Amino acid sequence: MDIKRLLHHILVSNAGPTAYLTPFHEMPLTDQPFLDPVLYRNGMARYAGHVQVVTTEFEGVSRGVTVTAACSVSDNPPSVLVCLNGSNANNAVFGKSGVFALNSLAAHHQPLAMAFAGLSGVPLGERFLLGDWVRLVTGAPVLADAVVGFDCRLTDIKQVSTHFVMFGEVKAIHFGPEAPSLIYLDRGFHTL
Ligand SMILES: Cc1cc2nc3c(=O)[nH]c(=O)nc-3n(C[C@H](O)[C@H](O)[C@H](O)COP(=O)(O)O)c2cc1C
Repeated sequence: MDIKRLLHHILVSNAGPTAYLTPFHEMPLTDQPFLDPVLYRNGMARYAGHVQVVTTEFEGVSRGVTVTAACSVSDNPPSVLVCLNGSNANNAVFGKSGVFALNSLAAHHQPLAMAFAGLSGVPLGERFLLGDWVRLVTGAPVLADAVVGFDCRLTDIKQVSTHFVMFGEVKAIHFGPEAPSLIYLDRGFHTL
């Protein structure tokens, strides 16, 4: 529930001033049905995101996915979150390994980003050949020349509609060479 809906609940629905004590999920939905997903995606197209590849390895098989839905959660303890599509069976390996690395990409990594998004026809088994990878603490593959790589232990997973949100505690950080960042905006790649 957003703040507008909360205020509507308190001010308009006669819920009274103690309504803020009611857990959000128990409040009646007095609003319209869901916003049109196409409209939402058009809005998100104007939201710039740093392109990253989240990686893991389990029983000798490496998995990487290009993402923009990832961010910092806290610096104490250092932690991040990543949202992954739950309908892609290949993503289940993240829950099994219990570790992941979040690799922030530089401008020259666009072919890597395309490959790990499945957009350039590179087979799953050949994608990791496009970069050099190092291991830090958890054993998840960290891109050697990433702008920065966060090596994480999985601490929690929450299922939220179509996606699962992975929370990770950062166990080590890898600083690659400084370079312009790869950004996704207006449905295309940009450099910052
Ligand atoms: C710029 C960009 C950002 C993306 N962000 C996400 C994301 O945050 N979460 C996600 O699950 N998929 C995201 N995707 C889609 C996945 O990269 C893609 O569906 C997946 O890697 C393809 O599946 P495959 O690896 O099984 O071929 C993004 C794709 C692109 C090009």
